[in-house]
Parts: sequence; structure tokens; C-alpha cells
Amino acid sequence: MITVKNLTKRYGPVPAIADVTFDIASEETGNIIGFLGPNGAGKSTTIRILTCFQPATSGSAVVAGYDVFRESVQVRRQIGYLAENAPLYPEMRAREYLNFRGKLHRMSPAERKKAIDRVTERCWLGEFVDRPIGQLSKGMRQRVGLADALLHDPKVVFLDEPTIGLDPNQIRETRKLIRELGERHVVFLSSHILHEIEQICTHTIIIAGGRILAQGSPKALQEQISAGSKLITEIKGSEAEVESAVKGLAGVDSVQSEGVDGWCRLTIGANGSSDIREAIFKLTSEKGWTMREMRREVASLEDFFIKITAEQRLA
Ligand SMILES: Nc1ncnc2c1ncn2[C@@H]1O[C@H](COP(=O)(O)OP(=O)(O)OP(=O)(O)O)[C@@H](O)[C@H]1O
Ligand SMILES: [Mg+2]
Repeated sequence: MITVKNLTKRYGPVPAIADVTFDIASEETGNIIGFLGPNGAGKSTTIRILTCFQPATSGSAVVAGYDVFRESVQVRRQIGYLAENAPLYPEMRAREYLNFRGKLHRMSPAERKKAIDRVTERCWLGEFVDRPIGQLSKGMRQRVGLADALLHDPKVVFLDEPTIGLDPNQIRETRKLIRELGERHVVFLSSHILHEIEQICTHTIIIAGGRILAQGSPKALQEQISAGSKLITEIKGSEAEVESAVKGLAGVDSVQSEGVDGWCRLTIGANGSSDIREAIFKLTSEKGWTMREMRREVASLEDFFIKITAEQRLA
């Protein structure tokens, strides 16, 4: 559905994206694709190129069977796009705005009516479709933008950070909506929030510094990330004894200990993705020690970015 090869965009000497390559075949990846990266990673640049809003410096891209550079008219017919700051006219009612957008898609009055009814329902706009856009909440305005992106029933929908600036309730609703959209469309959505991507996406592509760092299912990605996570535990006992016993457990990579008021506070690194919590609990109970805390400090996305960027540099 989306094939991107060696896509590069330069504004100045430093490329905004460099050699971006990925292939989305929804039979394999599922329909909801997460494009994850920190600020300035190149997410919007990539999306603007794939939606024919901006040319690339080099490389190629095919979306829904059409070449983004040579067949932009056909590509635009197959895609919907919700930009980072979707321009909406505050004085227009949502219905008027959608009608105006339908005219741009050259839909007949009857087609426009049908399409507006369809997207009003699909984006849960309800009676808000007859309110002026300027009077709508940010979350509701976002839905008008989504309704606009879906008006011509596109195969692929690009959503650039659709939940940014929304409150937790609106975020939850938007995620639910995106999940529903994934039943009928391929949804390509960008975000800088790891757990957002994990929750709704069937496939994830990670970009940072304009380069693709990793891609795969959210589960595979989570395993890669949790490989860098640490376990924090506090056990009562002699520091030397506790430390050496924990060090001897299978799967334990590193142990740092610190004595706090007779308690031994351990920061444990496990190798690979092994879960050592059960072994630690058993050890504590066998030795008759007391445990007052055990929690997993999951590596953040930033940690993950730093780790894989460093690995790439070494490679
Ligand atoms: N019009 C432009 N002129 C010059 N540089 C630009 C332009 N647009 C983007 N850039 C640069 O390209 C890089 C990628 O920007 P882009 O907006 O694609 O990132 P992003 O991943 O969408 O970030 P954010 O999460 O902040 O939206 C950044 O370093 C940015 O400064
Ligand atoms: Mg952006």
C-alpha cells in the first residue's frame, strides 16, 4: 500500500530525512501504521512528501499503487490527509466546510450529501456538524479535520500527530476512532508518544534524525525496548550477600547495590528480554529475606533512541 525507497529531503546541508525506506503491505503489517519519532525527526516532512504536498530531493514513493512524483493527481484521490495544524475556517459551520471541500473533490451535490452524512457518522460529529467550527472544542475540531480527510473515502489516511494538544478524554476518543478507521482504511499516523503507538498500531516505524531506526510489530518493538529496562528492588539483608546471590541468577546482566537504612537497594539489568522478577522473588523467599519494593523501570523512548542510534554508529 505504501512503498518508500531511499527518500531524501534537503532544505540545507543537513538532510531533514535521509534514505528513508519502508514497505507497508497491509496483509502483513495490519492497517494501522505508527510513525514514531521525537521532535524534528522528519515525520511531517515524510508525510508531506507522501501526500504530494512537497517534493523530495531524491528517492521514490508509491502510495496505493501510484507514483507520488509522477501521478500525484491519482495519489491525491486515494489518500486523505490530516495535517499537523489542519487549516479550518472558524466562521464556517462544519457542514458548510465539508460541503466546500466536497466541491474541491468535484463531487456532485448528491454525492456530497451522502459523503457528509457518512463522515459525520464515522467521526462521531453528531449535531456538532451544524455548529460554527470556531465554537467547537479542539477535540471536536480535530474530528472535523478527520471527517474532511475521509470525505472522498480514501484508501489510505495520513494523520500527522492527531492527538497533540487534546485532553486525556479526547485522546481516548480519538484513539478509539482511529481503531475503527483501521477496519476500512490504511491509517498512517505519526506520534512522538511511544505508548500511544503501542496501544493502537499494528506496525511501527521509528524515525529519528531523519533516519529510520527500527520497524516491526509493536510487540517486537516493546521487546527491543524492554531489553534496556531495569528492575529496582529493595531487600533487607547483608548487602554483599544479597548482591552476590542476585548476580548469580540466570538472566541477570548487571547489579548495582546501595545500602539504605539496613535495606539493600538493587538496580538490576537483565540480558535480552528475560523477565527475572519471579526468580528474584523466589530467591528472597528461600533466603528468608524481606522485600519491600520491586518495580520495572521501563526504558523510555528517548533511552531507546539513544541506544539504537549509538548501535548504528558503531555498526
Ligand atoms: N521548511 C523547512 N525549511 C528548513 N528546514 C525544515 C523545514 N521543514 C522542516 N525542516 C527541518 O527538517 C527536520 C525535520 O522536520 P519535521 O517537521 O519533518 O519533523 P517532525 O518529526 O515532524 O517534528 P515534530 O515532532 O516537531 O513535528 C527538522 O530538523 C526541521 O527543522
Ligand atoms: Mg511534525
